[in-house]
Amino acid sequence: MKTSVIRRRFLDYYAQNGHRIVPAGSLVPGDDPTLLFTNAGMVQFKDVFLGTDRRDYVRATTAQRCVRAGGKHNDLENVGYTARHHTFFEMLGNFSFGDYFKREAIQFAWGFLTGELGLSKDKLWVTVYKDDDEAADIWINEIGIDPNRLSRLGDKDNFWMMGDTGPCGPCSEIFYDHGADVPGGPPGSPDDDLDRYIEIWNLVFMQYDTLADGTRVLLPKPSVDTGMGLERLAAVLQNVHSNYEIDLFQSLIKAAMAVTGCTDIENRSLRVIADHLRSSAFLIVDGINPSNEGRGYVLRRIIRRAIRHAYKLGCDELFMYRLVDSLVAEMGEAYPELAKQADQVKQVLRNEEEQFARTLENGMAILESGIAELSATEIPGELVFKLYDTFGFPADLTADVAREKNLAVDMAGFERLMAEQRIRAKSANKFKLDRDIDLNLDGQTTFFGYESLIGDGCVVKLLRDGVDVTSLAEGETGMVVLDGTPFYAESGGQAGDRGQLTAPETQMQVIACNKLQGHHLHQVVVQQGTIRVGDRVTAQVVREERLNTARHHSATHLMHAALRQLLGEHVQQRGSLVTFDKLRFDFSHLESLTREQLRSIEQLVNQQILANTAVVTEVTDIDTARASGAMALFGEKYADQVRVLSMGEAGFSKELCGGTHVERTGDLGLFRILSESGIAAGVRRIEAVVGPYALAQIYQQDDLLINLQQIYKCAPDQLIDKAQQALVQIKELEKDIQRLSAKQAAAIAGDLSVKAVDVSGVKVLAVQMQGIDAKALRTTIDELKSSLGSAIIVIAAVNGDKVQLAAGVTQDLLDRVKAGDLVRELGALMGAKGGGKPDLAMAGGGDVAQLQTALDQAEPWVRHKLGA
Ligand code: SER
Repeated sequence: MKTSVIRRRFLDYYAQNGHRIVPAGSLVPGDDPTLLFTNAGMVQFKDVFLGTDRRDYVRATTAQRCVRAGGKHNDLENVGYTARHHTFFEMLGNFSFGDYFKREAIQFAWGFLTGELGLSKDKLWVTVYKDDDEAADIWINEIGIDPNRLSRLGDKDNFWMMGDTGPCGPCSEIFYDHGADVPGGPPGSPDDDLDRYIEIWNLVFMQYDTLADGTRVLLPKPSVDTGMGLERLAAVLQNVHSNYEIDLFQSLIKAAMAVTGCTDIENRSLRVIADHLRSSAFLIVDGINPSNEGRGYVLRRIIRRAIRHAYKLGCDELFMYRLVDSLVAEMGEAYPELAKQADQVKQVLRNEEEQFARTLENGMAILESGIAELSATEIPGELVFKLYDTFGFPADLTADVAREKNLAVDMAGFERLMAEQRIRAKSANKFKLDRDIDLNLDGQTTFFGYESLIGDGCVVKLLRDGVDVTSLAEGETGMVVLDGTPFYAESGGQAGDRGQLTAPETQMQVIACNKLQGHHLHQVVVQQGTIRVGDRVTAQVVREERLNTARHHSATHLMHAALRQLLGEHVQQRGSLVTFDKLRFDFSHLESLTREQLRSIEQLVNQQILANTAVVTEVTDIDTARASGAMALFGEKYADQVRVLSMGEAGFSKELCGGTHVERTGDLGLFRILSESGIAAGVRRIEAVVGPYALAQIYQQDDLLINLQQIYKCAPDQLIDKAQQALVQIKELEKDIQRLSAKQAAAIAGDLSVKAVDVSGVKVLAVQMQGIDAKALRTTIDELKSSLGSAIIVIAAVNGDKVQLAAGVTQDLLDRVKAGDLVRELGALMGAKGGGKPDLAMAGGGDVAQLQTALDQAEPWVRHKLGA
């Protein structure tokens, strides 16, 4: 029995039993923000159940398209891996709005399955809600079900809810036994989720409404909502054990084999593609576009998952839009809206495929070059992560590629980086919240990181998700408070240190360090072992990073002093950020800095670096510090005892600062300014680098020059002349091209004009040309207009599989013929879209195979218009 016949027989059966056949609702539930998609037949009747909407019928039946991807009922990840899960499926249902209840619902369903369809009752199994004695009684005593074939199950299985809120109630389900050769046990048994006993029908006895606060109130009247998966029923009636083997899916799978080139009909990826084609197409029909949020995002994920599976099958061409016609052939009759919007669906799929193809292409290029540079046989987690994080290239795709090339993938490393990134992403927000938590610790962490980068500390507190815990186990992330640490905690614009905490058999990576209530909070990922409160650990900061951070911090002081010396005392620090790889300094100043000023600052700082004086730290009370002329931040609160940092010749710079610094100014190596910009009225920002990062910046500039020399093939001192000459030459060549294309257009026009046919004194010409660009196309049309006199001209420019149509109409005919109408008319025949002015219009896109057929219609169309 074909799927389409089953759908029809179901609706007819219920119609004969007094039900109104109601058309399916959209996949986008109207006005219902609680639901992502229509996920059951009852959705369009939600308000009728609640009593806030009334219909002129109390019994209804529908075949409803449903999507279960995202939201409460989500089957996306199961698709392809079980015989019965789909993102898109059709639900056959019957509904009673305060009319009949349990007894009739059960009798109707039983009548349809065993009477109408003739299923053997030995193949059926039923379940009821654990304390629904009434339903159990009807099944056993009125229907005559063997009590051994009835299970009572709890909330998870036999209480149905539309979403977190809305109508709900206990339910009774009917299962079909696919036979002993299929693995799986009856409902309620441990392996009931295998494929032997398949739920085909769910009868919900709607009685309650769940409110937003979770309380349940009674519906105005007990009602019925049933839902049967059409695909599952078809599998039963077609004697197959998987939905994917039914007629409808087999046709789609065969179409997918043809376009992807896969010859193994059992391949899982084909099933995924067939399933996802249906959901994508119907979501588009119901008005959703792929995007980065909400419903559009779910659609995008579904399409991209299908593309990935096609890619797995070795198909790297756009393919999905080419399957739409097959889908229309299978489902267009039941869903005329699909047939009507097929072109739109193809267009949307094609765009999304093109866009994702670019992501895949970029990612593949990076992956290939990464693989070429590998010295081992494993793709490092860092590369997998970079591909995913920066290029949106899915990790499972990297794994696929690796498999083909016999390479392993460090998935554990990738997962670790993902976990760290999640923490980084969260910590920005979470830390703000965490500032409210009370650490409930006396005193403060002893910071010995000015003198040393390694040392022991005792764990005095552990936090996971901001909550006290006694231990953190391998793989977990959390915060560690030690009584003493060398880790600098982010403050005064200087980033916190990173590094390791270790104890025998325990290892943690510190990915950030912040300060709260006088204590240093090490954010850690436990890589090995378990850490407990009271443990002693060795804390070690990454030396290179700390040294470079210190370099950038000292450079900030020197630059601050240089700015005041060169620009004036009005320069005040407005903000700063010091990390291991650069410094950023914001300060008050009205105008942007000239190139000379920037150079003077650079020189002054470098002078101080060359002087190589010692950096001196004094701890003193705040009043003495101020009196000595040390710069303090305006409005900043300082402790009684402060650190005063002096560096440079003859008191060049003196600042209050808690940060970490170098020992001598010479440690900075070299200072380079990267950029200067304005960030607000009267506030400027300078970014600069020192040490190895300054060297790297110089190499970058060098490379630029060397590359330019190679391009222009000249010595550095000739570069500017060469570049200017090239610009002049380009201008001259452009003029030449213009002259030549005008000439060429005239010549082409001459050749073409003989092909024009005469329709009542009007010359009509419709031709295609290879490899001509849009501009030449227009000039040619203009030429033809003046040489033909009274004329209607269509030229199709063909470039590979791209077509551009242009139509021109001479002035004298404009009251009768419009160029826009003509390109639209011809465009429609080949799927191209466009328009324009009455005397000149263009259309693009469309199927090049249909081009000649479209062009052939130009003359009859003109005849008709001119009444010839
Ligand atoms: N609403 C129920 C379900 O989706 C029955 O239609 O299973």
